[in-house]
Amino acid sequence: MDRKTLFSEKTVNIGTESGYDNYIMAIESSCDETACAIVKNGREVIANIVASQIKTHEKFGGVIPEIAAREHLDAINVVVEEAFEQSGIAPEQITAFAGTVGPGLVGCLLVGLNAAKTLALVHDKPFIGVNHLNAHLCANYIDTDLKPPFMALLVSGGHTQIIDVESYSKQTILGETIDDAVGEAYDKVARLIGLPYPGGPRLDKLAQIGNPKAFELPEGKVEGYNFSFSGLKTAVLRLVKSFDGKELPINDICASFQECVSKTLVKKLKKALEERGYNQVVIAGGVAANSEIRKKVFALESDGCKVFAPAMKYCTDNASMVASCAYFNTNTFDDIDVEVFSRA
Ligand code: KG4
Ligand code: ZN
Repeated sequence: MDRKTLFSEKTVNIGTESGYDNYIMAIESSCDETACAIVKNGREVIANIVASQIKTHEKFGGVIPEIAAREHLDAINVVVEEAFEQSGIAPEQITAFAGTVGPGLVGCLLVGLNAAKTLALVHDKPFIGVNHLNAHLCANYIDTDLKPPFMALLVSGGHTQIIDVESYSKQTILGETIDDAVGEAYDKVARLIGLPYPGGPRLDKLAQIGNPKAFELPEGKVEGYNFSFSGLKTAVLRLVKSFDGKELPINDICASFQECVSKTLVKKLKKALEERGYNQVVIAGGVAANSEIRKKVFALESDGCKVFAPAMKYCTDNASMVASCAYFNTNTFDDIDVEVFSRA
């Protein structure tokens, strides 16, 4: 694809057909990670810097948007400098600068997006705006030879979707959650049983030492490829209350919850995969780091299916996936005037 720079209006050919090595620098700041990366040809990570705000938000039990935005401001220049340093690449060698446009927290997105736009303007390179959800999917292109078509399960703090990825740019959402996202359900249940923020990974750890059959929890009954997790959350609340202040069998509750969630997700993913006749499937998003979901999805390999899951550090928010998304032109925004958006 041809991209123009703003000042000199020079045309730059970017992506799989460009015929030369592309080095894309990307910035991600949609929630509580300030990240900058440089990726060669969409698949080879040259630098990957992530400044996490977990310690700041831990004491509040969740992300406070205003504080998050201020922390992005503090970290943004540092992560960009570190990415240049780690890569040994000079700004003039960068092919294009990319930044996350949304969905995410508006104040947070503004910091990273404006930094990416500024870098593009100052160095007279094209700017590429990226959708955060598409970027999560593209994390699967890193260090692999994955090519569409494939079926994708996207599970993050804000989204739960089954997506038919027909080509790098053509994707159809087959189903999504009608209430809570999987990550949100994990975080809410974790809080309910007294685990600190961020609850998802902590719940996952305890689930691994609990009995998944200890409690029968209800799977959300929704048509087609859609999901519902709010009923499950209420069922856990009822279960917790039934102990009436007595010590909770926390590990067993975690394991039973995790079993219910992973079973529901993988059942529908498998159905979509079979219906479409694809032999490749990917998982993506922060919750793709979950041990049981990974295990159940990788079990699909026994049906002759190729399974892809990003390395742990590319599951949760990072900028390498944003650079990859810009390279493969996965529904990107070329216009430097593009504005941030909060919801998909
Ligand atoms: O994709 P992500 O980093 O941010 C969003 O775009 O939302 O996902 C964050 C979510 C959080 O809800 C977090 O609790 C969850 O991913 N998460 C996990 C695990 N690791 C992160 N949930 C369950 N098990 C995990 N191992
Ligand atoms: Zn994310």
